Amino acid sequence: MPKETLLELKDLHTHFFTDNGEIPAVNGVSFSLDKGEIVGIVGESGCGKSVTSLSVMQLVPNPPGKIVGGAINFKDENIVNAAQKRMKQIRGNEIGMIFQEPMTSLNPLFTIGNQLIEAIRFHRKISKKEARQESVDLLKLVGIPRAEGVIDEYPHQLSGGMRQRVMIAMAMSCDPDILIADEPTTALDVTIQAQILDIMRDLNRERDTAILLITHDLGVVAELCERVIVMYAGEVVEEGSVREILKDPQHPYTKGLIRSLPTLHGDDQKLYSIPGTVPKPGMKKAGCQFAPRCEFAFDRCFKEEPELYELGKSRTSRCFLYDKKEGDAAKHAESTFGS
Ligand SMILES: Nc1ncnc2c1ncn2[C@@H]1O[C@H](COP(=O)(O)OP(=O)(O)O)[C@@H](O)[C@H]1O
Ligand SMILES: [Mg+2]
Repeated sequence: MPKETLLELKDLHTHFFTDNGEIPAVNGVSFSLDKGEIVGIVGESGCGKSVTSLSVMQLVPNPPGKIVGGAINFKDENIVNAAQKRMKQIRGNEIGMIFQEPMTSLNPLFTIGNQLIEAIRFHRKISKKEARQESVDLLKLVGIPRAEGVIDEYPHQLSGGMRQRVMIAMAMSCDPDILIADEPTTALDVTIQAQILDIMRDLNRERDTAILLITHDLGVVAELCERVIVMYAGEVVEEGSVREILKDPQHPYTKGLIRSLPTLHGDDQKLYSIPGTVPKPGMKKAGCQFAPRCEFAFDRCFKEEPELYELGKSRTSRCFLYDKKEGDAAKHAESTFGS
Protein backbone atom coordinates (compact mmCIF):
# COMPACT_ATOMS: atom_id res chain seq x y z
CA MET A 1 0.00 0.00 0.00
CA PRO A 2 1.47 3.41 -0.89
CA LYS A 3 2.28 5.55 2.11
CA GLU A 4 0.00 8.46 2.83
CA THR A 5 1.93 11.57 3.82
CA LEU A 6 0.14 13.46 6.60
CA LEU A 7 2.56 16.25 7.31
CA GLU A 8 5.26 17.72 5.15
CA LEU A 9 7.52 20.62 6.06
CA LYS A 10 9.23 22.25 3.10
CA ASP A 11 12.12 24.64 3.67
CA LEU A 12 10.59 26.08 6.82
CA HIS A 13 12.16 29.26 8.20
CA THR A 14 11.08 30.63 11.57
CA HIS A 15 12.90 33.69 12.88
CA PHE A 16 12.80 35.72 16.09
CA PHE A 17 13.01 39.48 15.77
CA THR A 18 14.78 40.64 18.91
CA ASP A 19 16.69 43.70 20.13
CA ASN A 20 19.82 41.76 19.27
CA GLY A 21 18.73 41.27 15.68
CA GLU A 22 17.00 38.63 13.60
CA ILE A 23 17.55 35.10 14.92
CA PRO A 24 17.05 32.22 12.45
CA ALA A 25 15.95 29.57 14.96
CA VAL A 26 14.60 27.29 12.22
CA ASN A 27 16.62 27.63 9.07
CA GLY A 28 15.25 25.70 6.10
CA VAL A 29 13.86 22.56 7.70
CA SER A 30 12.20 19.92 5.52
CA PHE A 31 10.83 16.51 6.49
CA SER A 32 7.66 14.47 6.29
CA LEU A 33 5.54 12.27 8.50
CA ASP A 34 3.43 9.45 7.07
CA LYS A 35 0.16 8.09 8.37
CA GLY A 36 0.71 5.85 11.37
CA GLU A 37 4.46 6.52 11.47
CA ILE A 38 6.58 7.44 14.51
CA VAL A 39 9.32 9.93 13.64
CA GLY A 40 11.81 11.41 16.07
CA ILE A 41 13.46 14.82 15.97
CA VAL A 42 16.64 14.76 18.01
CA GLY A 43 19.32 17.30 18.83
CA GLU A 44 20.81 19.09 21.81
CA SER A 45 18.97 21.86 23.57
CA GLY A 46 18.73 25.04 21.49
CA CYS A 47 18.81 23.31 18.08
CA GLY A 48 15.34 24.53 17.08
CA LYS A 49 13.28 21.40 17.73
CA SER A 50 10.55 23.08 19.77
CA VAL A 51 10.32 26.07 17.47
CA THR A 52 9.86 23.64 14.57
CA SER A 53 6.94 21.89 16.27
CA LEU A 54 5.41 25.12 17.55
CA SER A 55 5.56 26.43 13.98
CA VAL A 56 3.43 23.51 12.79
CA MET A 57 0.78 24.45 15.37
CA GLN A 58 1.18 28.22 14.78
CA LEU A 59 2.06 28.54 18.46
CA VAL A 60 5.36 30.37 18.10
CA PRO A 61 5.06 33.48 20.29
CA ASN A 62 4.51 36.37 17.90
CA PRO A 63 6.12 38.80 18.44
CA PRO A 64 9.03 38.14 18.54
CA GLY A 65 8.70 34.95 16.44
CA LYS A 66 7.46 34.65 12.88
CA ILE A 67 7.42 32.03 10.13
CA VAL A 68 9.21 33.86 7.34
CA GLY A 69 9.34 31.16 4.66
CA GLY A 70 8.46 27.67 3.56
CA ALA A 71 5.39 25.49 3.56
CA ILE A 72 3.68 23.22 6.08
CA ASN A 73 1.47 20.80 4.22
CA PHE A 74 -1.05 19.00 6.39
CA LYS A 75 -2.77 16.45 4.18
CA ASP A 76 -3.59 18.51 1.09
CA GLU A 77 -3.57 21.92 2.72
CA ASN A 78 -0.70 24.35 3.25
CA ILE A 79 -1.38 25.57 6.80
CA VAL A 80 1.62 27.85 7.11
CA ASN A 81 -0.64 30.90 6.84
CA ALA A 82 -3.94 29.28 7.82
CA ALA A 83 -6.46 31.53 9.57
CA GLN A 84 -6.73 31.27 13.35
CA LYS A 85 -10.19 29.75 13.00
CA ARG A 86 -8.82 26.88 10.92
CA MET A 87 -5.84 26.45 13.27
CA LYS A 88 -8.19 26.09 16.23
CA GLN A 89 -9.88 23.20 14.44
CA ILE A 90 -6.54 21.62 13.66
CA ARG A 91 -5.15 21.98 17.18
CA GLY A 92 -6.79 19.37 19.31
CA ASN A 93 -8.99 17.97 16.60
CA GLU A 94 -6.51 16.90 13.96
CA ILE A 95 -3.09 17.44 15.54
CA GLY A 96 -2.69 16.96 19.29
CA MET A 97 0.32 18.20 21.20
CA ILE A 98 1.89 17.42 24.56
CA PHE A 99 4.78 19.20 26.24
CA GLN A 100 7.50 18.48 28.78
CA GLU A 101 5.80 19.97 31.82
CA PRO A 102 2.16 18.93 32.03
CA MET A 103 1.50 21.13 35.07
CA THR A 104 1.79 24.25 32.92
CA SER A 105 -0.82 22.94 30.47
CA LEU A 106 -3.33 21.76 33.06
CA ASN A 107 -5.39 24.33 34.91
CA PRO A 108 -4.77 23.85 38.65
CA LEU A 109 -8.23 25.21 39.51
CA PHE A 110 -10.26 22.59 37.67
CA THR A 111 -10.55 18.84 38.11
CA ILE A 112 -9.11 16.47 35.53
CA GLY A 113 -12.68 15.60 34.52
CA ASN A 114 -13.70 19.23 34.01
CA GLN A 115 -10.77 19.79 31.70
CA LEU A 116 -11.21 16.58 29.71
CA ILE A 117 -14.95 17.09 29.34
CA GLU A 118 -14.39 20.64 28.16
CA ALA A 119 -11.77 19.50 25.65
CA ILE A 120 -14.13 16.85 24.27
CA ARG A 121 -17.17 19.15 24.14
CA PHE A 122 -15.18 21.94 22.52
CA HIS A 123 -15.18 20.04 19.25
CA ARG A 124 -18.23 17.83 19.49
CA LYS A 125 -21.80 18.36 20.53
CA ILE A 126 -22.34 15.57 23.03
CA SER A 127 -23.90 15.67 26.50
CA LYS A 128 -21.84 16.20 29.64
CA LYS A 129 -22.71 12.71 30.77
CA GLU A 130 -21.47 11.14 27.54
CA ALA A 131 -18.33 13.29 27.64
CA ARG A 132 -17.69 12.19 31.21
CA GLN A 133 -17.92 8.54 30.22
CA GLU A 134 -15.54 9.18 27.32
CA SER A 135 -13.16 10.90 29.71
CA VAL A 136 -13.07 7.84 31.95
CA ASP A 137 -12.43 5.67 28.87
CA LEU A 138 -9.59 7.96 27.79
CA LEU A 139 -7.99 7.84 31.23
CA LYS A 140 -8.16 4.06 31.04
CA LEU A 141 -6.72 4.15 27.52
CA VAL A 142 -3.60 5.89 28.86
CA GLY A 143 -3.27 3.37 31.66
CA ILE A 144 -4.54 5.40 34.61
CA PRO A 145 -5.62 3.07 37.41
CA ARG A 146 -8.92 3.92 39.18
CA ALA A 147 -9.89 6.31 36.40
CA GLU A 148 -13.37 6.81 37.94
CA GLY A 149 -11.74 8.39 40.99
CA VAL A 150 -8.97 10.33 39.23
CA ILE A 151 -11.50 12.13 37.06
CA ASP A 152 -12.67 14.15 40.10
CA GLU A 153 -9.17 14.98 41.32
CA TYR A 154 -7.15 18.13 40.79
CA PRO A 155 -3.84 18.18 38.86
CA HIS A 156 -1.74 18.74 42.02
CA GLN A 157 -3.09 15.51 43.51
CA LEU A 158 -1.41 13.48 40.75
CA SER A 159 2.23 12.52 40.25
CA GLY A 160 4.20 13.90 37.31
CA GLY A 161 3.80 10.64 35.41
CA MET A 162 0.03 10.58 35.98
CA ARG A 163 -0.27 14.22 34.87
CA GLN A 164 1.59 13.41 31.67
CA ARG A 165 -0.85 10.54 31.07
CA VAL A 166 -3.73 12.98 31.54
CA MET A 167 -2.14 15.30 28.98
CA ILE A 168 -1.87 12.44 26.51
CA ALA A 169 -5.54 11.60 27.18
CA MET A 170 -6.41 15.25 26.56
CA ALA A 171 -4.42 15.31 23.30
CA MET A 172 -6.07 12.06 22.21
CA SER A 173 -9.59 13.19 23.13
CA CYS A 174 -10.47 14.08 19.57
CA ASP A 175 -8.66 11.14 18.03
CA PRO A 176 -6.08 13.26 16.17
CA ASP A 177 -4.24 12.05 13.07
CA ILE A 178 -0.97 13.27 14.56
CA LEU A 179 0.36 13.53 18.09
CA ILE A 180 3.29 15.91 18.54
CA ALA A 181 5.14 15.15 21.76
CA ASP A 182 7.82 17.67 22.73
CA GLU A 183 10.16 16.17 25.37
CA PRO A 184 7.21 14.26 26.87
CA THR A 185 9.37 12.24 29.26
CA THR A 186 12.22 14.62 30.03
CA ALA A 187 10.87 15.66 33.44
CA LEU A 188 10.14 12.06 34.48
CA ASP A 189 12.30 9.38 36.05
CA VAL A 190 13.37 6.43 33.90
CA THR A 191 10.73 3.93 35.01
CA ILE A 192 7.87 6.36 34.40
CA GLN A 193 9.54 7.47 31.17
CA ALA A 194 9.43 3.88 29.89
CA GLN A 195 5.72 3.63 30.79
CA ILE A 196 4.86 6.83 28.93
CA LEU A 197 6.76 5.62 25.85
CA ASP A 198 4.83 2.32 26.05
CA ILE A 199 1.54 4.22 26.12
CA MET A 200 2.49 6.20 23.05
CA ARG A 201 3.53 3.00 21.25
CA ASP A 202 0.16 1.42 22.13
CA LEU A 203 -1.76 4.47 20.89
CA ASN A 204 0.17 4.34 17.65
CA ARG A 205 -0.68 0.65 17.20
CA GLU A 206 -4.29 0.75 18.34
CA ARG A 207 -5.36 4.02 16.74
CA ASP A 208 -2.79 4.37 13.98
CA THR A 209 -1.92 7.82 15.33
CA ALA A 210 1.21 9.22 13.71
CA ILE A 211 3.65 10.54 16.31
CA LEU A 212 6.27 13.25 15.99
CA LEU A 213 8.50 12.76 19.01
CA ILE A 214 10.83 15.60 19.91
CA THR A 215 13.65 14.87 22.30
CA HIS A 216 17.27 15.67 23.14
CA ASP A 217 17.68 12.00 24.06
CA LEU A 218 18.64 9.61 21.29
CA GLY A 219 17.90 6.75 23.69
CA VAL A 220 14.22 7.74 23.72
CA VAL A 221 14.22 7.85 19.91
CA ALA A 222 15.77 4.38 19.81
CA GLU A 223 12.96 3.09 22.05
CA LEU A 224 10.04 4.39 20.07
CA CYS A 225 10.80 5.70 16.59
CA GLU A 226 11.18 4.14 13.18
CA ARG A 227 12.77 7.13 11.52
CA VAL A 228 14.76 10.05 12.90
CA ILE A 229 15.61 13.60 11.87
CA VAL A 230 18.75 14.97 13.50
CA MET A 231 18.74 18.75 13.96
CA TYR A 232 21.67 21.03 14.65
CA ALA A 233 21.62 24.84 14.87
CA GLY A 234 18.22 25.18 13.21
CA GLU A 235 18.95 22.77 10.36
CA VAL A 236 18.42 19.10 9.55
CA VAL A 237 21.88 17.52 9.47
CA GLU A 238 20.93 13.87 9.05
CA GLU A 239 17.90 11.74 8.36
CA GLY A 240 17.41 8.00 8.22
CA SER A 241 15.79 4.97 9.78
CA VAL A 242 16.65 4.60 13.46
CA ARG A 243 18.26 1.26 12.74
CA GLU A 244 20.57 2.70 10.06
CA ILE A 245 21.41 5.80 12.06
CA LEU A 246 22.35 3.89 15.19
CA LYS A 247 24.36 1.32 13.28
CA ASP A 248 25.97 3.62 10.78
CA PRO A 249 25.69 7.36 11.54
CA GLN A 250 26.70 9.51 8.58
CA HIS A 251 27.16 12.88 10.26
CA PRO A 252 29.85 13.59 12.88
CA TYR A 253 27.20 15.26 15.06
CA THR A 254 25.04 12.13 15.08
CA LYS A 255 28.13 10.08 15.79
CA GLY A 256 28.74 12.32 18.83
CA LEU A 257 25.14 11.94 20.03
CA ILE A 258 25.49 8.17 19.85
CA ARG A 259 28.78 8.23 21.72
CA SER A 260 27.09 10.33 24.42
CA LEU A 261 24.51 7.62 25.09
CA PRO A 262 25.05 5.84 28.38
CA THR A 263 26.07 2.27 27.69
CA LEU A 264 24.83 -0.71 29.63
CA HIS A 265 28.26 -2.00 30.53
CA GLY A 266 30.30 1.13 31.12
CA ASP A 267 28.44 2.68 34.03
CA ASP A 268 31.69 3.33 35.87
CA GLN A 269 33.17 5.14 32.87
CA LYS A 270 32.91 8.86 32.46
CA LEU A 271 30.13 9.67 30.00
CA TYR A 272 31.30 11.12 26.70
CA SER A 273 29.96 14.50 25.71
CA ILE A 274 30.54 16.36 22.46
CA PRO A 275 33.07 19.13 23.13
CA GLY A 276 31.82 22.72 22.87
CA THR A 277 28.23 23.96 22.74
CA VAL A 278 25.42 24.57 20.25
CA PRO A 279 25.95 28.01 18.68
CA LYS A 280 23.32 30.63 19.48
CA PRO A 281 21.26 30.98 16.29
CA GLY A 282 22.07 34.70 16.11
CA MET A 283 25.81 33.96 16.03
CA LYS A 284 25.93 31.89 12.83
CA LYS A 285 29.38 31.59 11.31
CA ALA A 286 30.44 30.89 7.75
CA GLY A 287 30.66 27.24 6.77
CA CYS A 288 29.22 24.18 8.49
CA GLN A 289 27.67 25.14 11.84
CA PHE A 290 29.08 22.01 13.47
CA ALA A 291 32.64 22.50 12.16
CA PRO A 292 34.03 24.15 15.32
CA ARG A 293 33.08 21.03 17.34
CA CYS A 294 33.86 18.45 14.66
CA GLU A 295 36.90 16.19 14.85
CA PHE A 296 36.77 15.55 11.09
CA ALA A 297 36.51 19.20 10.00
CA PHE A 298 38.86 20.38 7.26
CA ASP A 299 39.40 23.75 5.54
CA ARG A 300 36.32 23.73 3.38
CA CYS A 301 34.04 23.12 6.39
CA PHE A 302 34.88 26.56 7.79
CA LYS A 303 34.23 28.35 4.51
CA GLU A 304 31.30 26.76 2.68
CA GLU A 305 27.92 25.55 3.90
CA PRO A 306 27.37 21.87 3.10
CA GLU A 307 24.15 20.87 1.41
CA LEU A 308 22.03 17.97 2.61
CA TYR A 309 23.57 15.14 0.57
CA GLU A 310 21.25 12.33 -0.47
CA LEU A 311 22.79 9.02 0.51
CA GLY A 312 19.86 6.79 -0.31
CA LYS A 313 16.11 6.66 0.03
CA SER A 314 15.16 8.94 2.96
CA ARG A 315 18.81 8.93 3.97
CA THR A 316 20.65 12.26 4.05
CA SER A 317 23.68 13.89 5.65
CA ARG A 318 24.74 17.55 5.67
CA CYS A 319 28.47 16.90 5.60
CA PHE A 320 31.22 17.41 3.02
CA LEU A 321 32.56 13.97 3.83
CA TYR A 322 29.75 12.69 1.61
CA ASP A 323 30.54 15.03 -1.24
CA LYS A 324 32.00 12.85 -3.98
CA LYS A 325 34.62 15.56 -4.57
CA GLU A 326 36.05 14.92 -1.09
CA GLY A 327 37.12 11.34 -1.81
CA ASP A 328 40.18 11.25 0.44
CA ALA A 329 38.61 13.03 3.38
CA ALA A 330 35.64 10.67 3.20
CA LYS A 331 37.91 7.65 3.17
CA HIS A 332 39.76 8.99 6.18
CA ALA A 333 36.48 9.54 8.00
CA GLU A 334 35.24 6.07 7.17
CA SER A 335 38.34 4.47 8.66
CA THR A 336 37.99 6.45 11.90
CA PHE A 337 34.19 6.50 11.94
CA GLY A 338 33.46 2.81 12.06
CA SER A 339 34.88 2.23 15.56
N1 LIG B 1 10.78 33.42 22.54
C1 LIG B 1 11.98 33.44 21.95
N2 LIG B 1 12.62 34.62 21.71
C2 LIG B 1 13.82 34.65 21.09
N3 LIG B 1 14.48 33.55 20.67
C3 LIG B 1 13.91 32.38 20.88
C4 LIG B 1 12.64 32.24 21.54
N4 LIG B 1 12.32 30.93 21.60
C5 LIG B 1 13.34 30.28 21.02
N5 LIG B 1 14.30 31.13 20.59
C6 LIG B 1 15.54 30.80 19.87
O1 LIG B 1 15.35 29.61 19.16
C7 LIG B 1 16.40 28.69 19.44
C8 LIG B 1 15.87 27.28 19.36
O2 LIG B 1 15.00 27.06 20.45
P1 LIG B 1 14.18 25.71 20.66
O3 LIG B 1 13.43 25.37 19.42
O4 LIG B 1 13.40 25.91 21.90
O5 LIG B 1 15.34 24.65 20.89
P2 LIG B 1 15.18 23.11 21.33
O6 LIG B 1 13.74 22.80 21.45
O7 LIG B 1 15.86 22.34 20.25
O8 LIG B 1 15.90 23.02 22.62
C9 LIG B 1 16.92 29.09 20.81
O9 LIG B 1 18.29 28.81 20.94
C10 LIG B 1 16.68 30.58 20.86
O10 LIG B 1 17.80 31.26 20.36
MG1 LIG C 1 12.67 22.19 23.15
